[in-house]
Amino acid sequence: MAGKTLNLTLRVWRQKGPKDQGGFVDLQAKNVSEDASFLEMLDAVNEELVSKGDEPIAFDHDCREGICGACGFVIDGEAHGPMKSTTVCQLHMRNFTDGATLTIEPFRAQAFPVIKDLMVNRSAMDRIISAGGYISQNAGNAVDANAILVPKADADEAMSSATCIQCGACVAACKNASAALFTSAKISHMALLPQGQVERKERALRMVAAMDAEGFGACTTTGACEAACPKDIQLTNISRMNREFLVANATKREKHSDGGAG
Ligand code: SF4
Ligand code: FES
Repeated sequence: MAGKTLNLTLRVWRQKGPKDQGGFVDLQAKNVSEDASFLEMLDAVNEELVSKGDEPIAFDHDCREGICGACGFVIDGEAHGPMKSTTVCQLHMRNFTDGATLTIEPFRAQAFPVIKDLMVNRSAMDRIISAGGYISQNAGNAVDANAILVPKADADEAMSSATCIQCGACVAACKNASAALFTSAKISHMALLPQGQVERKERALRMVAAMDAEGFGACTTTGACEAACPKDIQLTNISRMNREFLVANATKREKHSDGGAG
C-alpha cells in the first residue's frame, strides 16, 4: 500500500555563485512520499526544474547514509533540520506536516563562503585537519587487539570523538560561527590514545592556531553546536581542547624561558 504524500512550499536560497547577492525563491514540492529522505525530495524538485529548463538547486551530498559529512544545510533555522542526531540525508519527510512552508538556506559562516545555492566551501575545516589532525609516523599494519593497552573509558571517549563527520553543522548553529566542537573532537580523539601522544602538544597548538586563522569565531559554550551535531559530539571535547592548548602553551613558554627549543 502506498504511503502518505505531502505537498510543501520550499523557500529556497538561490545564489548563482560566491559574488552573487542571492535571495529566496518559492518552489513547490508536490506529492512527496513521507518515506522519501529530504535529499530525495530535493532530487524530485530538481527533476522538475530541469524538465522545465531551469537550473537545479545545488546541494552537497555523497554517501546519503549519514557517514560522510558531505550534506548539510539549514531547514527552518536549524542546521540539518529539526530531528536530533540526524543528517539531512537521513532526515525523512514523515517528520514534516502536509501544507507546510519550509525555509532552506546554506550554512552561514564567514569561513564557509557560499559556492552556489545550498553549497558552501568547507575547506577551512580541511586546513584545520592539515595543521595537525593526523599522526605523521608510519604506524605499520594493524596490530593485534589489546597489544596496546588503552583504558576502556579513554577508548570509549576517543571512539565517540572520532565519530565527527566534519559536516560543519556545529559552525552553522553557533552564533559566533565557532569551529570549537569540530576542532576539539579531532584533537580529543588522538589526545586520548597512545598513538597520539608524540605530537600531542604540537597538534593542539597548530590546530587551534589554524582554527583562529580561518576566521571562525570564539566559543562561548552556549551548546548550540552540541544540540545541532548529527553525531552527538559532546561539549566536554571543548574543555579537553582548552586544557590541551593551555598545557601545550605553558610547556612551550617554560621551554622558551629555559632557553630551549619548542
Ligand atoms: S562536531 Fe558534529 S556538527 Fe561539528 S563537524 Fe563534527 S559531526 Fe558535524
Ligand atoms: S550525504 Fe553523507 S552524511 Fe549526508
